[in-house]
Amino acid sequence: MHLPFNLFKFIFCTLLFINSILCYDPPKRYLHSSVIIDDRLLIFSGAINSSTYTFELFYLDLSKSFDNNKLTWTLIPKGSLPVYTWRATAVLSLDNSTIYLYGGYMRNKNTYDYDFSNLVYTYNYPTSTWSTPKLSGDTVPARQNIKGVIDNSGIIYIFGGYNITNITYNSGYLYNDMSILNTVSNTWTTLSISGDLPTICSEYTADILPSGIIVYIGGLEKVSYYADNFTLVNMNKIKLFDTNEYEWSQMNATGDEIDSRIYFTSVLTPDGYIIIFGGSTYTATDADLSSVNPKLAILNTNKNPFEWSIPSDSKVNSPPSIYGHTANLYNDFMIITFGFNLDTQLFSSSGQVYLYNIKSNKWVTTFDPSPSPKPKPSTTSTHNPNISSPPLKKSSKALAIGLGTAISDQPRQHPDILQIPGSNQNELY
Ligand SMILES: *[C@@H]1O[C@H](CO)[C@@H](O)[C@H](O)[C@H]1NC(C)=O
Ligand SMILES: *[C@@H]1O[C@H](CO)[C@@H](O)[C@H](O)[C@H]1NC(C)=O
Ligand SMILES: *[C@@H]1O[C@H](CO)[C@@H](O)[C@H](O)[C@H]1NC(C)=O
Ligand SMILES: *[C@@H]1O[C@H](CO)[C@@H](O)[C@H](O)[C@H]1NC(C)=O
Ligand SMILES: *[C@@H]1O[C@H](CO)[C@@H](O)[C@H](O)[C@H]1NC(C)=O
Ligand SMILES: *[C@@H]1O[C@H](CO)[C@@H](O)[C@H](O)[C@H]1NC(C)=O
Ligand SMILES: *[C@@H]1O[C@H](CO)[C@@H](O)[C@H](O)[C@H]1NC(C)=O
Repeated sequence: MHLPFNLFKFIFCTLLFINSILCYDPPKRYLHSSVIIDDRLLIFSGAINSSTYTFELFYLDLSKSFDNNKLTWTLIPKGSLPVYTWRATAVLSLDNSTIYLYGGYMRNKNTYDYDFSNLVYTYNYPTSTWSTPKLSGDTVPARQNIKGVIDNSGIIYIFGGYNITNITYNSGYLYNDMSILNTVSNTWTTLSISGDLPTICSEYTADILPSGIIVYIGGLEKVSYYADNFTLVNMNKIKLFDTNEYEWSQMNATGDEIDSRIYFTSVLTPDGYIIIFGGSTYTATDADLSSVNPKLAILNTNKNPFEWSIPSDSKVNSPPSIYGHTANLYNDFMIITFGFNLDTQLFSSSGQVYLYNIKSNKWVTTFDPSPSPKPKPSTTSTHNPNISSPPLKKSSKALAIGLGTAISDQPRQHPDILQIPGSNQNELY
């Protein structure tokens, strides 16, 4: 007998085995966070709509095969977030034990008021507990629409972003500063960098190459000092931050034409390709976000300058136009979760993820956990020929927690006010 999965799940969950943890149906959401620990794709934070936020922590088991529209989510009841937040960034510690959740639009779970009293939360995976780490160093700034990356010495890098100041009108500042959170010493430092500073920017993607170069793509920037002149970043204008030298540089990428975008995602493959997906446009005069073309594109960082391409098969069986989703790479699969569907103007189904196979460059419907044979390793210098190989940084020894089974102040360079159009009294995007 072959029951349709949903019918089977219904019978299983309602009649045979009433279990709210195993039969968990998570709220749809966007602008959330996701990380992979211990073969589990953990999802948390995000917003349901303009006035409702989420606190649940749940996961998809990646140790087993599944069809992309027949998912079993598992709730971790002890993992409920201590605060509502969305547009935050979540970075996993080097030892895979701890999630660092920073920033976002943060609201108190009891009062529903904005609550920026604590800006960094940590989640200890082995014990399923959230806590507020005591950070030394500089004052941690409130930021939203940021993306942190961690280097191989356990330092998280946070670039620019947005800082809401008028919560009623959802207006605030954009930044171009660089802060580092040392997860070994629990120290926050806002770096003092002069020269080649990028334009103030938020809603970009960030990926750190093995060479220690962070690649920032896309987002929203302010190029002119006059008026509310916020524009989308040209996708060929790549910002590079060298974590070895604390130096910025810019690169003009070549290749296929890629629409500028915000609220999109990126993953870095082991062989040096950054795959971007989804997102939306932004226009200063039009509050409506609209879809971008192509939905998926690949930046080859092995070439100098980097080169964009659009895999021809990536348009076949493509997901709809979505933004505010997340993307994680697990072996051969880029896994897209949740987000807002611009085609239907509805949230993505909670019963479905989208799977892109990075080896075949095709959208697929079945997830297979077994890794394909490893490609032969390439050296660091081929990933980024123009940048000399960095000295290997000391690795974290203070963070050797087993998983068991399971510089000076320069806070803002050119802040200017940003009011997101159409978003008055409403943080829908
Ligand atoms: C937001 O979602 C909640 C929960 O589903 C619902 O009760 C509420 O009416 C929604 N609000 C808006 C503005 O859509
Ligand atoms: C952390 O997890 C990744 C896989 O997601 C694995 O490659 C790595 O070895 C793990 N690190 C530690 C210290 O367990
Ligand atoms: C945002 O930045 C402004 C200016 O630096 C500061 O006064 C304000 O407190 C910041 N907002 C939050 C929520 O921290
Ligand atoms: C927020 O912005 C609105 C419109 O500019 C203004 O009327 C209001 O006074 C501002 N509120 C605060 C707290 O600055
Ligand atoms: C806004 O920026 C765009 C892009 O650089 C430019 O073409 C335009 O002239 C600017 N407008 C104003 C009012 O500064
Ligand atoms: C990128 O192109 C612009 C012109 O579009 C040029 O002014 C700039 O020097 C170029 N940057 C690099 C790093 O080649
Ligand atoms: C790459 O390296 C060459 C030779 O060292 C140099 O001339 C060129 O300016 C570099 N390009 C970038 C984008 O750094």
